[in-house]
Amino acid sequence: MKRRILITGGAGFIGSHVVRLFVTKYPDYLVVNLDKLTYAGNLANLKDVELAPNYRFEKGDICDGETVNGIFEKYDIDGVIHLAAESHVDRSIKEPLTFARTNVMGTLTLLEAAKHRWSGNYDGKLFYHISTDEVYGALPFDGSMFTEETKYAPHSPYSASKASSDHFVRAYHNTYGMPVIVTNCSNNYGPYQFPEKLIPLFINNIRNRRPLPVYGRGKNVRDWLYVEDHARAIDTIFHNGKAAETYNIGGFNEWRNIDLIKVIIRCADRIMGNPEGFSEELITYVTDREGHDLRYAIDASKLRDELGWQPSLQFEEGIEKTVRWYLDNQQWLDNITSGDYEKYYEEMYLKR
Ligand code: NAD
Ligand code: DAU
Repeated sequence: MKRRILITGGAGFIGSHVVRLFVTKYPDYLVVNLDKLTYAGNLANLKDVELAPNYRFEKGDICDGETVNGIFEKYDIDGVIHLAAESHVDRSIKEPLTFARTNVMGTLTLLEAAKHRWSGNYDGKLFYHISTDEVYGALPFDGSMFTEETKYAPHSPYSASKASSDHFVRAYHNTYGMPVIVTNCSNNYGPYQFPEKLIPLFINNIRNRRPLPVYGRGKNVRDWLYVEDHARAIDTIFHNGKAAETYNIGGFNEWRNIDLIKVIIRCADRIMGNPEGFSEELITYVTDREGHDLRYAIDASKLRDELGWQPSLQFEEGIEKTVRWYLDNQQWLDNITSGDYEKYYEEMYLKR
């Protein structure tokens, strides 16, 4: 095999798109997916590639040094794309320790394993860490954007843990000379996102005629990127990015939550054959998220100018595809709500 890549968190939302892209686009790469299968991991996300000859799944915890060292050795890993993390801001407010453990200690455990296995021979090696725009803090409504030079100012336990892991990754370059790349991306949307996050949660609630809980007054702004565009950016950066660099990834696509929610409602109502505005009555303003960041906006021009990447989908097209996907794949959503998705590993992998 030409490359032997470890993708962590490949059973999650973004990870599953990255695994699919690498397995199908690079048949001469071995793609090893290490995932603990927390509540957010769902192997059904990878049904279409699970039997590919260049794909391996390893169930394990990135915080477990023995497991991680064993995987580096077993597959002679030469590249890491690290996505495994606790990713939901609301959960981080309730259980910050879990976020510190996985996001900080897990990343450090992977870095140690890479350092040990590669033992100073870094030719052809890369540790690529996937991070978030939330490490930069929050912006006012004044049109300014996060660039790669923006100072870190994380506000939530989630973003603090991601910021810490970003610093550790860079420290391994500065201290040990390990080739690393960090990318900071804005909000992703698309198929296979766990329905605790705004867009799949709201689509699921619209189809079940449940309330749509809008935090505060819905004025917060996020920059949305279709998940397959993020996966393409990761592919571009993994192959052509410069070691020790940081790249921002974003959609140049800012929306106030309430406006975005109305777009989703219009789209879902149209597809389900409801009269226009039918589901707007489900909008329910609820207590705001603690420390809710006002606005994120990513300036992704470095990535565009240096590596030629840009988002391929217009937002209207991306939202249409996304709403249709969740409505066409209601069983996927229902398996999560019922908890049945957790049986997939046992039923499809262990019995083979
Ligand atoms: P997700 O929650 O959907 O998936 C996370 C995956 O990591 C799951 O499959 C889970 O089982 C796995 N995992 C969690 N803890 C683990 C552990 N200890 N060991 C091994 N596996 C473990 O997350 P996502 O939304 O796909 O995000 C993936 C990465 O991208 C994260 O690092 C996140 O910080 C980053 N990111 C996400 C977004 C977004 O909008 N979703 C935007 C920018 C960056
Ligand atoms: O910016 C990148 C980040 O985007 C990633 O690093 C995170 O992993 C990812 O979860 C996402 O974080 P957000 O907090 O922005 O995503 P979420 O879908 O939870 O919320 C989007 C916005 O919608 C946010 O302003 C909070 C609001 N919201 C969210 C939920 C779940 C609501 O108003 N109601 C809700 O029920």
